[in-house]
Formats: sequence, structure tokens, C-alpha cells
Amino acid sequence: MKQHIYLIGFMGTGKTTISHKLQQLTQAEEIDMDAWIVGKNGMSINDMFEKYGETYFRDRETDAVREIAGYAPAIVSCGGGAVLRDENTKMMKESGRIVLLTATPETVYERVKNSTDRPLLNGNMNVEHIASLMEKRRELYANACDVQVVTDGKTPQEIADEILKISQN
Ligand code: S3P
Repeated sequence: MKQHIYLIGFMGTGKTTISHKLQQLTQAEEIDMDAWIVGKNGMSINDMFEKYGETYFRDRETDAVREIAGYAPAIVSCGGGAVLRDENTKMMKESGRIVLLTATPETVYERVKNSTDRPLLNGNMNVEHIASLMEKRRELYANACDVQVVTDGKTPQEIADEILKISQN
């Protein structure tokens, strides 16, 4: 692999699952951006939001994007908000291909409803909130990505095959 494959998209669109699948299929290195941030800062994402606020977390996220962009080519599963800052998107575009995974708010809800480690959904775990946050980010995701892959109703294998086909072009 010559450059990174960045998987972006809303929470629950399958970035982590698809990253694992791509890793199995290609043997490429895999980087989980959220895990990278937690590891570097020795604190959970929930704690970062709670103790220091979202901006603090976003600053650490930008640090992570910069570090990862300069790292050897890997499959990178990004946090859902990794493209909220233009400077992050720019660094990602310069160092790889950006693949947007999409899913309907209903699918996302089914995938994340039992999770408690996503501060933006904690206390607001419902389809309406997911749909509204997703709508606010729709354009941002669409503008950031090189390609989009719909994940609803597909197996991880099918999605990974689609991504690999696209990435070879
Ligand atoms: C966020 C998504 C999360 C995590 C943080 C913020 C977001 O990652 O980075 O809770 O702003 O969408 P996942 O998309 O991996 O859940």
C-alpha cells in the first residue's frame, strides 16, 4: 500500500469493523484513531469530553491526524468527527484516499444503541438525534471524501471488497 486508506463517516457506519476486515484481506497495518488518542493521552474519550470539553478532544484529534498522516501507510479508522476541521481533512487528503461509509440513522441507531462510550450520543440515544447530527455533517463528509460506500444491508466482506476494488483504480 502506497498511501493510507482513511475510513470516515458517522458513528456506527462500521469504520472499525471494515478496518478489521480490510486488515485481514490485505495484511496492511491498521490504525484506530480513537484508540491512538486514548493511548497518547492516557484518558478515555468520555473523560476528555467531561473533564476538558469537546475543543480539548478536537485538539488532540488534530494532533492524532497530523501524527498518523506522517506514519507509514495504513488502514485508518477515523473518529466520526475527524473531518470537522478543514486542516484535518487537508492532511488526510495529502496522505491517502478518503472513503466515506454511510448508513441510515435507523441502521446507525441499531448498531450503537447499547454503547456508552460516545459522548455526543450519551443521554440522547435516539434516531431523531442521530438523524439531525448526521444531517448537519452530511455536506462535510461528502466534500471530504474521494469515494462513498453505502453499508446498509451489506456484509463486512462485501463492503471491504467494494473498497478494495475502488482503491485499486
Ligand atoms: C465522534 C465519534 C467517535 C469519537 C468521539 C466523537 C464524533 O468516534 O471520536 O466520540 O464526533 O462523531 P466513532 O465514530 O468511532 O464512534
